[in-house]
Amino acid sequence: MAVELKRGVLSQSEWRWCQRSEARHIGSVADSPTSLRVKVLTEDDWARLRAIRLSALQNYPAAFLSSYQLEKSYSEQRWRQEFSRGTWNILVADGEDAGLLGVTREQAMSLQECYLEYLWIAPDLRRSGAASMLLRTVLNRLRAAGVHTVWLYILNGNQVAMNLYQKFGFQTTNEPQLLPDHPAGSEHRMKLRLD
Ligand SMILES: CC(C)(COP(=O)(O)OP(=O)(O)OC[C@H]1O[C@@H](n2cnc3c(N)ncnc32)[C@H](O)[C@@H]1OP(=O)(O)O)[C@@H](O)C(=O)NCCC(=O)NCCS
Repeated sequence: MAVELKRGVLSQSEWRWCQRSEARHIGSVADSPTSLRVKVLTEDDWARLRAIRLSALQNYPAAFLSSYQLEKSYSEQRWRQEFSRGTWNILVADGEDAGLLGVTREQAMSLQECYLEYLWIAPDLRRSGAASMLLRTVLNRLRAAGVHTVWLYILNGNQVAMNLYQKFGFQTTNEPQLLPDHPAGSEHRMKLRLD
């Protein structure tokens, strides 16, 4: 399923994306994408999930608990299993996979709750509202599906992602989990009520 993003009510950063996109038509920003859409992958797209997840781990390992070396060794079967754990949303910019956001559930979780995972935007697209568009699209879908609580974990020190999540109303739950084997030292759980 692919959803073309409607640009009716736009946040400041989404509006900036539009302006950059408009600017391309008059030649002042040569590399801005002209189309962004969000695609939900199916299990047979496992190689696309693998490719973008490995790009994220290679580009910005500090944001994640896993590593490029570990996930590069995963088998096809292991990637296919990711589709029983969650739904994987890809941001496609001018036909190229350029962003990722997963929606997952723990086994005992109700259908009204979920986690967000693996958020990543390709460096060339950053600071233009791409993550905001991806997040807004996914949250709108979750709200429409009856989800009322969205959780995520963020590693200590990731202030850029913290700014983004706080902008969307996520609040830290003051339950830091210590991670002695990770350079970040701890992670924080954040919560958003979708009312
Ligand atoms: C975090 C990330 C997804 C943001 O993507 P993005 O497309 O650049 O984000 P947006 O352009 O939609 O920005 C939305 C908000 O995020 C915050 N933000 C984004 N980039 C920022 C920066 N460099 N410095 C400070 N705040 C920033 C701002 O609050 C911004 O709102 P504003 O533009 O009104 O100031 C991207 O930087 C990324 O992929 N980082 C590496 C992976 C990562 O950290 N993932 C999160 C795991 S928990």
